[in-house]
Order: sequence, then structure tokens, then C-alpha cells
Amino acid sequence: MAVHDSLAPESVVPVRRGRFGSPYLYEPVCESTQLLLLGSGLPEGAVAVADYQSGGRGRVGRPWVAPPGTALLASVLLHPPANRHLPELSLVAALATAEAVEAAADLSAQVKWPNDVMVNRRKVAGILSELSEGVVVVGVGINVNQARDELPADAPTPPASLRTLTGRAYDRARLLDSLLDRFERRYDEWGAGGLAALYEDLGPRDFLRGRRVDAGGAPGTAVQIHRDGRLEVRTDGGETLEVESGEIGFVR
Ligand code: BTN
Repeated sequence: MAVHDSLAPESVVPVRRGRFGSPYLYEPVCESTQLLLLGSGLPEGAVAVADYQSGGRGRVGRPWVAPPGTALLASVLLHPPANRHLPELSLVAALATAEAVEAAADLSAQVKWPNDVMVNRRKVAGILSELSEGVVVVGVGINVNQARDELPADAPTPPASLRTLTGRAYDRARLLDSLLDRFERRYDEWGAGGLAALYEDLGPRDFLRGRRVDAGGAPGTAVQIHRDGRLEVRTDGGETLEVESGEIGFVR
């Protein structure tokens, strides 16, 4: 069934409350929403959204690809407090994204350290945080209305969209509004109290906890995400690793 689904300013700006989404930049097509904000000099809370990215950026130099008008592709500009540990921001955004996905689609969503949102062991969203001159641009890509054959076939983590998971189509403007509300609230909590302030809701969503993982060639079992954002891994050799950043593969 068709749903109302426009990310143009007239669909988004009138319903926005709070700081995130002001100003709101919308481009039907751009290279990457990250590039619309990096070096822009815009205030905290500026948001850039596109219906299609010709050069969408994923983590560790990977591309982020979605057919026009199917995914939610949004970047948020932040001026984080100087006393906060910036790598935690991806977890803050991932928690807010998991909550927005759950609220929209009545699904149980988890956070795969350090930056993915998972449903049914498949990746529905990814976060990319880029730092430039004290400003962080956090990009969120949510697979929303892609059909199965429109999801990347070669992704390192098997993907899903809200549509492939539920058989329904979703209004991306409503999802964006919910995401921005939740991200703003979680960001403010993090600014005031660090990751520990969110941990009660993050800890139970820890996807890797107890799973077999490969931490840079060391096979082991993920123990948990810590309150400082690091991932504890117990290697098969009996060593305890506190992983600060990077890729962790899980064994399906
Ligand atoms: C990942 O999982 O590798 C991170 C993907 C981040 C994709 C989003 S889409 C909006 C923003 N613009 C980009 O070019 N990338 C991020």
C-alpha cells in the first residue's frame, strides 16, 4: 500500500520541535549528506537529508548505497562538549536509531557495537561519525522501503529493511521526526552524564553480548559494551581485550 512519503521541507519542518532539524537542508540528490554539513559553519542541530546519494559514505571507506527514495539518509551537525569521549557518539546515535525503528515498526532492535542497528540478526541501519575542527557530523542511514533485491548483496553484515522485515511501507518523514526527537534527547543525556547516563537502555540492547566474535584476528566471545563505550572481548586464549574502536565480525 502506498504511504505519504516526502522528505521535502514542507513535510518535515512544520512538525519539528526542538533543536535537531533547525536548519533543515533537503536535497533530492547529492553526493553525501555528510558533505552538506562538514565545514558548513552551521549551528548545532542542523540536519541534511537526501532522497539519493551518488557517493554515500559508509564506515571504513565503504560505500553506502540505496536506490532513490527508499532509505532514510540523514546527517546531524553537533558541537559536543569538550569533556565527552567522541567515539561514544556513534553508540548514542545507534541507540536513538534503534528506538526509532522499534517505535515505527514494532520490532525489537539491538545495537551492534560500535555503530550498527540490528533486527533479526540483520543490519537495518548504520551510523557514520566524522570529526572536523571540533564539529562532529553524525550520519544515519536506515533501510526503510527497499525491496529484498534492492539491498546490497555483498554487505559484510546481511542487511534488511523495515519493508523486508514487516511487509509494509513506511513514511520516512515520520521516521525522521521520531529519530531526531530521540537522538536529541539521548545526545543531551550523554552531554550531561556520558554513556553511563544511557547505559540502562543501551546495555540490554547489546547485540554482540555473548556472541562469538573475531576481534582483529583473535577469535573469542564478546562480553559486553562497557559504560565507557569500549567492548570487552574474552579471547579463546583466555585474554581479556577492551576494544576501543574498529570492526568486530560476529559468527552467524
Ligand atoms: C555504515 O554502517 O557503514 C555507516 C553508514 C552511514 C550512512 C549514512 S546515510 C546518511 C549519511 N551520509 C553518508 O554519506 N553516510 C551517512
